[in-house]
Formats: sequence, structure tokens, C-alpha cells
Amino acid sequence: MSLILGIESSCDETAAAVVRDGYEVVSSCVATQIAKHAVHGGVVPELAAREHLVALNPVLDAALREAGVTMRDIDAIAVTQGPGLIPALLVGLNFAKGLALGNNIPFVGVNHFIAHIYGAFLDEAHSALEDKAAYPLLALVVSGGHTSLMLIDSDGRATALGSTIDDAAGEALDKGAKLLGLGYPGGPIMQKTAEGGDPHRFDFPRPLTGAAGKPLAPENKYNFSFSGIKTALLYHVKNHADAEGKLPAELLKDTVASYQEAVVDVLVKKTLSAAKEFGAKTIVVAGGVACNSVLRSRFEELTPRGVHLRLAERKYCTDNAAMVGGLGWHYHRRGAYSTPDIDAFARLPRITRVPFLEP
Ligand code: KG4
Ligand code: ZN
Repeated sequence: MSLILGIESSCDETAAAVVRDGYEVVSSCVATQIAKHAVHGGVVPELAAREHLVALNPVLDAALREAGVTMRDIDAIAVTQGPGLIPALLVGLNFAKGLALGNNIPFVGVNHFIAHIYGAFLDEAHSALEDKAAYPLLALVVSGGHTSLMLIDSDGRATALGSTIDDAAGEALDKGAKLLGLGYPGGPIMQKTAEGGDPHRFDFPRPLTGAAGKPLAPENKYNFSFSGIKTALLYHVKNHADAEGKLPAELLKDTVASYQEAVVDVLVKKTLSAAKEFGAKTIVVAGGVACNSVLRSRFEELTPRGVHLRLAERKYCTDNAAMVGGLGWHYHRRGAYSTPDIDAFARLPRITRVPFLEP
């Protein structure tokens, strides 16, 4: 039996968790900085780093207390190394290095993106992850920081098929909500506002899908672009503005529903088309935007029979350290630890390996 302490600080959530043997989440504590960033309408990296510095110790204490353990019971530490905001990552990474050194236990830096995918298999769902028949596995990780499709083969090789070339989908929702004066973070507010609205009343663009008669360059087949949707919203508001320059209240619901629909439509279409091309046996949807009810039900409706759909549980969609601690166990069981000189990294590598499959 091994207990891994997970630590996460890649964006605006400071998190610590204790996970037993890779899958059983014993405790998972998250301190969110949302209120601090809300006034800026988005995450400010330096502010995030300063907040992590203050929050890490209390969050660690809470995770240990909730698990009923002390640092002496922890076998190894897993910490998010990247991708993410460098100033934010550095705080958690250095904290983990110090904690490991001070307690004379090993630590390992893990990939936050793979951790999001792994988070869809925590608790009871894990047998699916180690079953070779579940591969190739196609994952859509969609959050405020990421929108990428990753294909994982049964030998553990993971290839990023495409990523956003500008804004992430969550960012598009956040910026759209900001533009409409709805608040931050935009995703959940947009979902609520869109309820009962007509998603087909207004036609927002579906960039890089080959729609609107524009031929799609092969390199963009599985890339995403969301900044055009945001610009279209800006013009939509201008075109329909009342005397005060604001969008009339009676258009708000349908506008938001149509905007959300455009984002969901692009995400689902690209994922299903990649699943078909690469013969995916499993589709995983994870990351903060995977909380979205419209996105979840669209995948449930449209995923072909014979393809297993795994939607991350909502509590493991947004950033957390349980997914980090769980993933870290797979390195621990092989003794594949990091050395104290490891650095944080900002971007998702095109090709990487997952630790939960033997080559
Ligand atoms: O994974 P996450 O906590 O942090 C990042 O790594 O970005 O994701 C946060 C993002 C935000 O953009 C937020 O607006 C979005 O996830 N989000 C949602 C919903 N809940 C959170 N987007 C759409 N619908 C939701 N219900
Ligand atoms: Zn994340």
C-alpha cells in the first residue's frame, strides 16, 4: 500500500491530495483564487504565483488532516511540472522539492495534461485505463488554459493531434462572458444564462472546421481556434446594441446559447472526426469545460456505438491534486522519480509517454 501526496499549482487553483495506490482518493483539497482574478476578468500569472505561495501550506495541512495522516505516512510526492503558467508552476514545484528533501522522500514531476485525462479514471473507474482493449484512447482536454486532442496508443505513446492556435475554449467562454458583463469565470455563468435560450437563433463561426466554405489546411485538421468566435460576439453586440450601446436584455439568452453552441459544436465535431480517423476505442473528455452540461450530453448523444465514452466526474474536471497524486503513483511503483534539478515547462510536448501502460 502506498500513499502519494499530490500537489497542483499550474493555474489559479492551489491543491493538495492524498491518493492510495493510484486510484483511491483519500483526501482532495482545493483553494481557488477565482475571486482574486475575477476583477481582472482572467488569470494574472504573477498574482496566481503569489496566491499559491500563501495557500500551499494551509492546503497541504488540510489534505493531510482530512486523510488522517502526517508527512511520515507519505511514500512519495507528485507535483505538476507543466504545462501551465510558469510563475504559478514554479511555486508548487519548489514547494514539493523542499517538502521531499525535508522529509527524506522522493518526488516526481508529472504532466498536468495527462493528469487531467487520468482524473477521468479515479475512484472506481480505473480498470478501463489499464485494459489494452480500451486503446487507442482519444482524449479531449478542454479548460481555461488548454484545448487539445491527444491520442494514446496501447504501448503508452501519447501524441498531441492538435491544440488551440489562439484562445482555449474555456477562455473563449470567459472572455465572452466578460464582454457581455456577466462575470468570471464565464463557463458556468454562460451555461446558466443559456438555459432555455435558442442555440440556433444566431450563427456564430465554427473556426477550423471547414465550415463557411473555407478549405481547411491539413495541419489544422485537429487544431482549434476560438478567438474568431469572440470577435464575432463583439460585432454581434455592436450590431444589436440599444441606445446605451448594450445588448438588449431580450437577446441575451439566445445570444449566449448560440455562442456556447458554436464552442460545443467545434469541440464535439473535431473529437468525433479524430476518433473515426484513428479508430479510437475510448473517448475521454476532461478539463474544466468538461463540466458543461451541453457538451456532456452532446457527446453522450453522438459517440458511436462500440466506442466507450468516459466523461470525467465533475469534481475531477477542474484543476485538482487527486489526478496528480494518482498519476504519480505509476512512477512511484517503478521507482521512476525526478531529480531536484527539474524545471517547470509551459507547453504540451507533441509526443510524450503515459506512465500507466507498459511499453
Ligand atoms: O481546468 P480548469 O479549472 O482550469 C484551467 O486549467 O483552465 O478550467 C477552468 C475553465 C474556465 O475557463 C471555466 O470557465 C470553465 O473551465 N468551466 C466551464 C464550466 N465550468 C468551468 N465551462 C463551461 N461550462 C461549465 N459548466
Ligand atoms: Zn488544468
